Amino acid sequence: MRHLMTPLDLSVEELDKLLDLGNDIEKHPEKYAHACAGKKLATLFYEPSTRTRLSFEAAMMNLGGNVLGFSSAASSSAAKGESVSDTIRMISCYADICAMRHPKEGAPMVASRVSSIPVINAGDGGHQHPTQTLTDLLTIRSLKGRLDNLVIGLCGDLKFGRTVHSLIKALARYEGISFVLISPEELRIPEYIREDVLDAQGIPYKEVEHIEDVMPDLDILYMTRVQRERFFNEEDYIRLKDFYVLDKKKMELAKEDMLVLHPLPRVNEISVEVDNDPRAAYFRQVQYGVYVRMALILTLLGIEV
Ligand code: CP
Repeated sequence: MRHLMTPLDLSVEELDKLLDLGNDIEKHPEKYAHACAGKKLATLFYEPSTRTRLSFEAAMMNLGGNVLGFSSAASSSAAKGESVSDTIRMISCYADICAMRHPKEGAPMVASRVSSIPVINAGDGGHQHPTQTLTDLLTIRSLKGRLDNLVIGLCGDLKFGRTVHSLIKALARYEGISFVLISPEELRIPEYIREDVLDAQGIPYKEVEHIEDVMPDLDILYMTRVQRERFFNEEDYIRLKDFYVLDKKKMELAKEDMLVLHPLPRVNEISVEVDNDPRAAYFRQVQYGVYVRMALILTLLGIEV
């Protein structure tokens, strides 16, 4: 039995195979419509979510399976003090696979150690968000045609943005990748990513504060929201929340074929005037999230179509 805690739980070969499966699902959805008949997915969300929870549920329904779960800690017995370990022991009796989001880093890992069904980390605190990374990789590969030889700009809250941490780890395994890390000083990428991933693997990167200076160099611009819920005080959040606003004027500096991605939700960091730019790929990215989660469910359940 396998779990998914970080994107590195899949080798590059396994990842490529999973993305191939995602593309096949996109082309031939009818082939997969009953692949999970009789199977159940549990969504255990201790933290708010729109995309991740609903795309997991849509993915399982598209595969002919069923879903059950809760969407907040307050509506589960966590509110009465039940531990994650006890909860997953129960869920293992009700479902065949589960996706868990939790505000505490490592909670899905704790669950996986006592679970008798595959556990998928659907986001743990400021740590990792591997299925968003699978979504990002499928989007980039489908729209750019490759995952190597790309200049990737990551912009915004690089400190608390778990999607950024997972994406760097995953892309660092491909040839010819370089990163441009665009953030204010207070929201720089954590030292453990800089030293243990980028420096340790000799991946080229630079850190800058002004997005305008680097726009012409980028193949991908990955925008992120400032993560209000992880700030210790509201004053700092208010000071930093509108540090970056991507608008039409800034887009004029970018390559014709640069792609703008965003894990969403967006707050103010991308002006709505950018939405109709053909380079804005963040809503197409959402659709790839369903295909890749279908591919992941099939892979972890060992179901071949
Ligand atoms: N991208 C993402 O994780 O969105 P949700 O928080 O809505 O699930």
